[in-house]
Amino acid sequence: IQPDFENLSQWAANYVVARINAAEPTANQPFVLGLPTGSSPLGMYKCLVDLCKQGKVSFRNVVTFNMDEYVNIPENHPESYHSFMWNNFFSHIDIKKENVNILNGNAPDLEKECENYETKIKAVGGIDLFLGGIGPDGHIAFNEPGSSLSSRTRVKTLTRDTIIANSRFFDNDVNKVPKTALTVGVGTVMDAKEVLIMVNGHNKARALAQVVEGSVNHMWTITALQLHPKAIIVCDEAATEEI
Ligand code: GLP
Repeated sequence: IQPDFENLSQWAANYVVARINAAEPTANQPFVLGLPTGSSPLGMYKCLVDLCKQGKVSFRNVVTFNMDEYVNIPENHPESYHSFMWNNFFSHIDIKKENVNILNGNAPDLEKECENYETKIKAVGGIDLFLGGIGPDGHIAFNEPGSSLSSRTRVKTLTRDTIIANSRFFDNDVNKVPKTALTVGVGTVMDAKEVLIMVNGHNKARALAQVVEGSVNHMWTITALQLHPKAIIVCDEAATEEI
């Protein structure tokens, strides 16, 4: 538990850097990171960019897999997760473009796209560290309430709550928010060797209470984390209000 968002972000960034450096990744044996979008990881991305510029970490031998992407909005749309990742992170670090993996929400065959993503993750030896945020309803990636806890990468219809929450990025107009997305499954996240979730703010307090004190259930998909052998939650004081 950190006092505020700034400390939470710095803590998460330091943790990621420590893990990458300890692994001493090479081109043949890269460090594999799972990455989220959203406001929760924004502070961490800023810290990671600074640490990279200071020479404290290099992403040359890091391979990344993003959690999710909207279906049917152009890749260069300002609110696509592709744009988010390049604008907020990838363009400012020394990562190789070919090491970046983000689901293609415009693929002609979406099911095939999801299947290939799982195959690619397996081919690099699995994800070493999966970073994530959560929605106020406790969803991880776009695994909305009711998702199977053993789900894999697939097409998912967004809930009304998520569409409303994300309309803040689409001129506050729910009609402009995509209604479906591609997302890794809860099972995909659970397969990672380690999972680090960032939770901040009062509006996440109910979800955090469910993860820490609730029972494992598919209505709060992040509760699956209780079954992970190496899961970490870094949160701010505000998010702990209901614990
Ligand atoms: C979206 C993303 C999730 C993210 C959630 C919360 O639904 N698919 O990965 O965790 O939003 O976003 P924020 O961090 O902005 O609260």
